[in-house]
Amino acid sequence: MLSAVERKIEQFVADLNDKHVSSLYMKLPKGKRLRAKLILKIAGTGLSVVKTAAIVEMIHAASLLHDDVIDDAHTRRSKPSLNAIYGNKTAIMLGDILYSKGFFELNNISADVAKIISNAVTQLSLGELKDVSLSQVFNDNKEIYLEMIYQKTASLIEASAGAAALLAGKPKEIYMIYGRNLGLAFQMIDDLLDITSDSTTLGKPALHDFAEGKTTLPYIYLYEALDEQSKQKLRSLHGRMLNAKEQTWILEQMQQHLIVEKSYLEAKKLIEEAIELMEQQGEKALSGIAKEMIERDF
Ligand code: FPP
Ligand code: MG
Repeated sequence: MLSAVERKIEQFVADLNDKHVSSLYMKLPKGKRLRAKLILKIAGTGLSVVKTAAIVEMIHAASLLHDDVIDDAHTRRSKPSLNAIYGNKTAIMLGDILYSKGFFELNNISADVAKIISNAVTQLSLGELKDVSLSQVFNDNKEIYLEMIYQKTASLIEASAGAAALLAGKPKEIYMIYGRNLGLAFQMIDDLLDITSDSTTLGKPALHDFAEGKTTLPYIYLYEALDEQSKQKLRSLHGRMLNAKEQTWILEQMQQHLIVEKSYLEAKKLIEEAIELMEQQGEKALSGIAKEMIERDF
């Protein structure tokens, strides 16, 4: 039933009566639609549910349009990003259009659903700002990292699950914990993949995040494990382009201190808690979504 959500987004965009905007929207890659999937699995396929899922995906798409401008990213889902093709101004404005139309439609759902979603968008923006500020320094504080990824990524997934529970008359808090854990684990895994997946050109990880100044969980754990001299070395490599030798040093240190394993376990713990909660509720499909997230190679 995800196709009903796609059609609803297309209809919301068509309501705007602007051919340019419709053609730009059609060029956006659709993505996994994780948030919409959760909403439908929790609340079924009634009209308000499909609308809520469409609104959340429009907000999410808007946030990625803005994020690619902020990150100066030239690819999104392995294709040129919209800002790379049409420039930053177009990407920002398409984001604003999707976001504001989503908010307009949110008014037609219910005050409680509107509150939960709009609050998450504030969190999303606070998290993005924190992510940018943190990349200017070497952050070695795990709590600060967790707060940032909660705001930047988990808040909208948590709110999606909460809004769906409200629509379905299910216990909101339980579903919100599920969404929160899923969101945190999702971002932790995304951060881990920056270290473990081979870049196509070099045949080895590019460690983009660290070069951009982002000390994600594996770097925080590595820093904790290193002796004073190596700590200084890691700090000296932060926030700049690394040569092959420097990259290899980081990867070897990570291997030696079992950092990927440690970070993976942290994500796995959150997922196991999410699975447990959903199994208690008899929500097989939702525990399945959580399982899929963690069952992959690193
Ligand atoms: C991706 O992070 C970014 C987010 C999940 C949130 C971005 C939020 C905003 C720009 C603020 C909200 C704005 C609107 C219009 C609702 P990432 O850069 O770590 O991940 P990536 O690898 O997918 O780029
Ligand atoms: Mg980004």
